[in-house]
Amino acid sequence: MDSFSILALESSCDETAVAILRQDGDKTEILSENIYSQIPDHAEFGGVVPELAARAHVQHFPSLIEATLQEASTTPDKLSAIACTTGPGLIGGLLVGSMLARTMAMRWQLPFYGIHHLEGHLLSPRLGTEKPEFPYLVLLASGGHTLMILAKGLGDYQILGRSRDDALGEAFDKSAIIMGLTYPGGPILERLAQDGDPTRFALPSPLVGARDKSDRLSCDFSFSGLKTAVSRLWRQLPPMTETEKQQARCDMAASLHSAVGNVLQNRLNNALRQFRALYPEYSDKIPVVFVGGVAANQILRQSLEVLCIRENAALSTVPMRLCTDNATMIAWAAIERIKAGLAPIAEHHQAQPRWSLEW
Ligand code: KG4
Ligand code: ZN
Repeated sequence: MDSFSILALESSCDETAVAILRQDGDKTEILSENIYSQIPDHAEFGGVVPELAARAHVQHFPSLIEATLQEASTTPDKLSAIACTTGPGLIGGLLVGSMLARTMAMRWQLPFYGIHHLEGHLLSPRLGTEKPEFPYLVLLASGGHTLMILAKGLGDYQILGRSRDDALGEAFDKSAIIMGLTYPGGPILERLAQDGDPTRFALPSPLVGARDKSDRLSCDFSFSGLKTAVSRLWRQLPPMTETEKQQARCDMAASLHSAVGNVLQNRLNNALRQFRALYPEYSDKIPVVFVGGVAANQILRQSLEVLCIRENAALSTVPMRLCTDNATMIAWAAIERIKAGLAPIAEHHQAQPRWSLEW
């Protein structure tokens, strides 16, 4: 297929998203992309409520799909395939998206590509002009996952490390709630950290120096202790005026960014060592991609950039709107599969709340 268009849906968490991309030879064009963010619907509960999320996907998909088709100036008969996130994620949302997408594929007689949500994230930097080539390292940090991955090829992924407890985005969100801020806390803490003193609160950098079963420096993460330390230090503060409290929030946010920056640098350095051991002949800069909602964080991007310059690695990220959940990355993952001549995989058609990347 030289030229083809693909419509994709994403509904694994709290974003209802639709995108249409066209591939023409080597050229990819995002014809239209739309997101209904459910953040305001969940804010009062301090996190995502699965049933509310599923109901909101049902409510918003029809108008979003119609608007996306209109903005792309296309009609269903001009599409070549339908893609949808089928896992991992919240089962209600996955069922809504996949049933809708499969029904459209059936109605319009198009092939259906069930896409792994994390594959969508990790392939997304390849949509850009300076695309990382396989093999490359992936640091994926979102509200549900924190993983260090070796992407050896399309669909060939090895997990080098994962969080043993909370995901990084979750640790940011929970720390924000402790300090009386709203959900999602990650972007709020990033803003506050700009005006804070990173040395005021001594927070731990968990698992620095830890080793894995093969006695290599570990690429695992642990963030629940960091959140507990934020809670303990916050509760120990004396009574404060509102101005002092706001400054304490800024200082805690800056201290948290400093501790997390150290952890990410340390774990990426360990992953780079493992990469060099696996590919001793590799002489170019090692490609590293930072993806997932937390990758929108400029302070953490900067920490990783510093390490990459020092260690002869090349960091790629994606535009902010593609860091958090979106359907463009799902359409792109399907395009990568179509270009590689990989047929849709029947087992990927079913919604799967748990689904390993090492399938
Ligand atoms: O990838 P994503 O949209 O959804 C999941 O698959 O989880 O990630 C959402 C997470 C939330 O925890 C949010 O607080 C975090 O990403 N996040 C950030 C920033 N923007 C979003 N964390 C830190 N700094 C940010 N700028
Ligand atoms: Zn995600």
